[in-house]
Amino acid sequence: MTMLSPIWPAQLDHLRLDSSDPAALAKFYAAAFGFRTTDFSAEEFYLQGPGRRLVIGPGEPGGRPYHGFRLTGRQQLDEVRAYIQGKGINIEPSPSPLFDDDAVAVRDPDGWLNVFGLPRAGLPSHPAVNTPSALTLPARLQHAVVATDNLPRMMAFYEDALGFTPSDYCSADIDDPATRKVAFYRSDPEHHSFAVFSGSETRCDHHAYEVECWNDIRDWADHMSANNIKLWWGPGRHGPGNNLFFMIQDPHGHQVEISAELEIMPREMTARVWPLEERSLNLWGPGWIRD
Ligand SMILES: [Fe+2]
Repeated sequence: MTMLSPIWPAQLDHLRLDSSDPAALAKFYAAAFGFRTTDFSAEEFYLQGPGRRLVIGPGEPGGRPYHGFRLTGRQQLDEVRAYIQGKGINIEPSPSPLFDDDAVAVRDPDGWLNVFGLPRAGLPSHPAVNTPSALTLPARLQHAVVATDNLPRMMAFYEDALGFTPSDYCSADIDDPATRKVAFYRSDPEHHSFAVFSGSETRCDHHAYEVECWNDIRDWADHMSANNIKLWWGPGRHGPGNNLFFMIQDPHGHQVEISAELEIMPREMTARVWPLEERSLNLWGPGWIRD
């Protein structure tokens, strides 16, 4: 019998984004995506909005030094630690100020650091907002995506070592698993909390916020317009995940997605395969084929 990974359920809780000017990047995200900002230090900022939070700090512009996945309790955290140690994977100290110190941080073959932990208590709070604005629009931080020049190695790590559940693949030849170009992974019933695209280099691809309905996408697009931020891709509907979406770019060229209607897939459902073509990436129009 195959032992199911204890990394279920886990939800993307936060990311850290790096910038040569963290204050300016924090100001952008606060305005564009409805965050309240608290200074952790002179250079590191904590951004909070309804269902979403980020850490922004100094570093290589466009860098994303860790992804924080929230677990449900101490027992699951202990099981995740034991499972990962049992796979012979090195556990690093957690860099996240938003999780308790005993969070488990593991680095994938491309160097991305995933932190599995429990929310730290005692973080700053803000008064509730009742005046309609970006701060009252729903947008739950939901998934992070990277590009890699070694997809087989990344798939082996996420599937076989961490035990994420594959939801969909895109393949050059749908009958040949050796030609896979994209892999979508879930860590709870939402179609993907992490995905990896084959590309010419290792880099950030995008991160996404899930909203409640199509009208929220309209409201977010109108909000972007009011802030003179152009939609970069979409609106459209992805094939894998079946989600409605649009994307914008942040000042470092990092794509950020607003998504709705992301497919729900119970754990027992097996992964499906889509042809790698524009229509799979956007059922409505032009696709973003990664180079
Ligand atoms: Fe996405």
